[in-house]
Amino acid sequence: VNDFFKGVGAVFSGLTGGSPWRKALLDKGFDVPEEQLTPLFGYLEFCLKQVVADNELGALVSALNGEYIQPGPGGDPIRNPDVLPTGKNMHALDPQSIPTTAAVDCARVVVDRLLDRLSQDNDGVYPESIAFTLWGTDNIKTYGESLAQVLMLVGVRPVPDALGRVNKLELIPQEELGRPRVDVVVSCSGVFRDLFINQMALLDRAVKMAAEADEDPEVNFVRKHALEQAAELECSVREAATRVFSNSAGSYSANVGLAIENGGWEGEQQLQEQFLSRKGFAFNSDRPGQMDQKQDMFKSALKTVDCTFQNLDSSEISLTDVSHYFDSDPTKVVQGLRGDKKKPMSMIADTTTANAQVRSLGETVRLDARTKLLNPKFYEGMLASGYEGTREITKRLRNTMGWSATSGTVDNFIYEDANDVFIADEAMQQRLLETNPNAFRDMITTFLEANGRGYWETSEENIERLQELYQEVEDRIEGVTM
Ligand code: BEZ
Ligand code: MG
Repeated sequence: VNDFFKGVGAVFSGLTGGSPWRKALLDKGFDVPEEQLTPLFGYLEFCLKQVVADNELGALVSALNGEYIQPGPGGDPIRNPDVLPTGKNMHALDPQSIPTTAAVDCARVVVDRLLDRLSQDNDGVYPESIAFTLWGTDNIKTYGESLAQVLMLVGVRPVPDALGRVNKLELIPQEELGRPRVDVVVSCSGVFRDLFINQMALLDRAVKMAAEADEDPEVNFVRKHALEQAAELECSVREAATRVFSNSAGSYSANVGLAIENGGWEGEQQLQEQFLSRKGFAFNSDRPGQMDQKQDMFKSALKTVDCTFQNLDSSEISLTDVSHYFDSDPTKVVQGLRGDKKKPMSMIADTTTANAQVRSLGETVRLDARTKLLNPKFYEGMLASGYEGTREITKRLRNTMGWSATSGTVDNFIYEDANDVFIADEAMQQRLLETNPNAFRDMITTFLEANGRGYWETSEENIERLQELYQEVEDRIEGVTM
């Protein structure tokens, strides 16, 4: 590949006085000097080589023969092309090395944009508390960006030692911070807990440091809430400053995703109770080595939350690709706990590119629907791949309904447009039925469920068609012929 690019570049430079990429840019009105393009295209050559390299089967055979397999980092190929080619002996990172300095810099941009957006949408008033979701894999891929975001919100700086291990913390002085310390409620995934128990301790110490700082509670919301909780729960401020939660040892996720997938749930209250009971185990750096069930503390911290927040760190998976994102979403849980029953704002940071964006959850769900479920390039590609492809389309619809159940941020038009694309069009019905009748039945069930549970308002006619279609597909699956 390298030689190919060099060859093409040389031939064209000889003929036209410029490389083909310089010429293409000039045609589009961009005059970029050759010496700036050379390193860029050198890097792109490297990336292309990584992408097309075919290492997997060869390495597998070597492994089966007990031979040496070259080690290399794992992670997101867009963030780090060195993770390719696959077929290496993959390693992650030293769990004590995160957040790295680079991750702290990236986190600052996201936190600034998040706070700007939240205060803009709320007459210039800062949020007092933000509910956070931390995933293990994300923090491996980003070297701890979301971990660093939490520290930054409470106004605490991680200080690495000479070997880059992060065990020390410093309170950022109020004058330097230039804004109130924002409180957090951190829900760690089970995977995060398994991988990063030391970083859970770091977060807990950071929160306690902020809560115990001798500062005016009006510019330190961690302290403000901890003081209120200490009075309410009759405990010390230090104990009240419990903000780092996860599942009990050996347990993973809120299982809200499972409930949505199999449809066997009574109402949203059941999902919310499940979230609270499964995720309500607290980490305490004063008593490390155990996770204590602290549901009252979890509820007491969540009831002051003004915003729920998650990161999307990689273009490999997004909000409706898997059930785990809505599984971790406490938006309606918080609404139920708040004294005023107001729904908190919900934000998503998109850090999949170098230019991080912060959008509302509703905007991000719309974007996801437009790029996947409702995008002909997506669903045609899925249909072309056959049986499993049809199941993938159904899965996106069901995960969309998951967001309705946990956050109520799905616009009606998403269901309506999906119904137009997959149900109202008879040719499409046939294609779905032929490629995977079971997935098609699940899709029809999901539409009916979305309507029945109040997430989708539509015409009587649409519902009748779905009901008839359900019967037809059911007969077809059961082998009944008319
Ligand atoms: C995690 O890395 O924390 C994670 C992975 C898969 C699903 C949910 C969380
Ligand atoms: Mg988990």
